[in-house]
Amino acid sequence: MNLRSREWFDRDDELGLQNRAVLRVVGWDPDLTRGKPIIGIANSWSELNNCHLGLRAVADAVKRGVIAAGGVPLEFNTISLGEELMKPSAMLYRNLMAMELEETLRAYPIDGVVLLCGCDKTTPAQLMGAASANLPAIQLNAGPKATGRWRGQEVGSGTSLWKYWDDYRAGKLGDEDWRALEAAYAGGPGTCNTMGTASTMAAMSEALGMMLPGASSIEAHSPRRIAVAEATGRQIVEIVRRDLRPRQIMTRAAFENALRVHAAIGGSTNAVIHLIAIAGRLRVPLTLDDFDAFSRTTPTLLNVQPNGDRLMADFDAAGGVPALMRELGDLLHLEAPTVTGATLGENIASAINRDARVIRPRDQPLRTDGALAVLRGNLAPRGAILRTTTASPHLQRHCGPALVFEDYADMLARIDAPDLPVTPDTVLVLRNAGAVGVPGLPEWGSIPIPKKLLAQGVRDMVRISDSRMSGTSSGTVVLHVAPESAVGGPLALVRDGDLIALDVPRRSLDLLVDEAELALRRAAWRPQPSPHRRGYPRLYQEHVLQPDEGCDFDFLRPQSDEDLAFVPPVVGRS
Ligand code: FES
Repeated sequence: MNLRSREWFDRDDELGLQNRAVLRVVGWDPDLTRGKPIIGIANSWSELNNCHLGLRAVADAVKRGVIAAGGVPLEFNTISLGEELMKPSAMLYRNLMAMELEETLRAYPIDGVVLLCGCDKTTPAQLMGAASANLPAIQLNAGPKATGRWRGQEVGSGTSLWKYWDDYRAGKLGDEDWRALEAAYAGGPGTCNTMGTASTMAAMSEALGMMLPGASSIEAHSPRRIAVAEATGRQIVEIVRRDLRPRQIMTRAAFENALRVHAAIGGSTNAVIHLIAIAGRLRVPLTLDDFDAFSRTTPTLLNVQPNGDRLMADFDAAGGVPALMRELGDLLHLEAPTVTGATLGENIASAINRDARVIRPRDQPLRTDGALAVLRGNLAPRGAILRTTTASPHLQRHCGPALVFEDYADMLARIDAPDLPVTPDTVLVLRNAGAVGVPGLPEWGSIPIPKKLLAQGVRDMVRISDSRMSGTSSGTVVLHVAPESAVGGPLALVRDGDLIALDVPRRSLDLLVDEAELALRRAAWRPQPSPHRRGYPRLYQEHVLQPDEGCDFDFLRPQSDEDLAFVPPVVGRS
């Protein structure tokens, strides 16, 4: 085994002594570690992130597996991106977490790494960092949280909250019930128990071949999660021995598998941005059009909220991602390598779909017309997306007058005003909510239905923004309009009353204003000055790419094969 850590420890000079002394301090006799791989355990545990509270026990189990297989585990903490408390959005910090991981792997004597993730952005951040470092890596998530119950109903993370919030605003839910919902909603440690972004990205990691089969859907509190953590610890030592690296696993074929699974689960729209970002780190070509093409040719099979009525525990009991992939069968590249050392086809060969109500058989899908649509037109020259599984059928061909909110604060201030000039046909537009504009592309795209329309029973409208939405949300919500308004995209030119035409079957999104008028508006447009004069937000605004390029930083995306090289540090005096 050719271990990079040996350059730190197997040397006779003063640095060798100093480095071995560090091992002694952290609890390892250097004689016991000789010839063994150093396995980093990147732990994003934090009390600021409820979703990751179970990761301490998971890390301990990974360590047991590493030691049992003959490796030396060294756990380190990383930034933790908690979707709920972190503002304006954990998305702002995804690239920071990816950079932190890549640089930790570069700078320390680590031969392989286990990536402990969970909440939405942590999974892609780790995959982006691991892709760039290209050291042997396996990912393991925190797992979905337990299902809470309220008024006899199961509570789905996000999905139930948005529904009951509308009921509360419409006066259908009293204050006492609203408060009681809070305790049921908490559930416990773990990620959202719906097919939101966390569950989607964990499934993507499995589909890409970067997580052990079946791991992603196991609930956070299950003893099976501890068992899979131990197995992950054993397996990382094995793939270090084989020198199996992320770049060998995350190939174009692996991404195509991920796109199939994404379409089959009706996955979160956020995964579009994240998968493009991960592929970009590897110079694997992946575009918005790939998502549309794979969505059109893949049946939607999973009946889990927000697309269906079940929760992640049901998906896990039905067999999880391996059973779903077995249903997809020849739509997948079964020869793709994975972190098990076996092919994807070998991994799922014995998988069984144990509940056809949750994972629909391929010949009885939930739908066949695609889970996701990529829209283009003069309002979105570089694309926009819509989760068709949760969009209202009657709105998928719609033309209506725009009502424009200049930014999030404007929207919050006016959305429930009794005199808001809005009808069910109005197209709600939110701008200055994108990657550069905020910065950080928060999940503001699911604009609430105005209170006066809620009272009339309206529960969906066409909504358009350069923002994202929670993977647990639903509705006819057009997202990620690119280029965004803050950099002069056409969304910046829309005025109240302009007609907007959405045609999902034709994949079009157009502003019905003639080009001469748009040219006048474009000439008059001026960018808004940013309050961020320094620090990370400024770096972000200056370097973030648009959603069709994954919102990575321009300087982190390799432009040539030479840029892919992982430059090791000089191991000398610090
Ligand atoms: Fe962390 Fe949903 S808030 S996974």
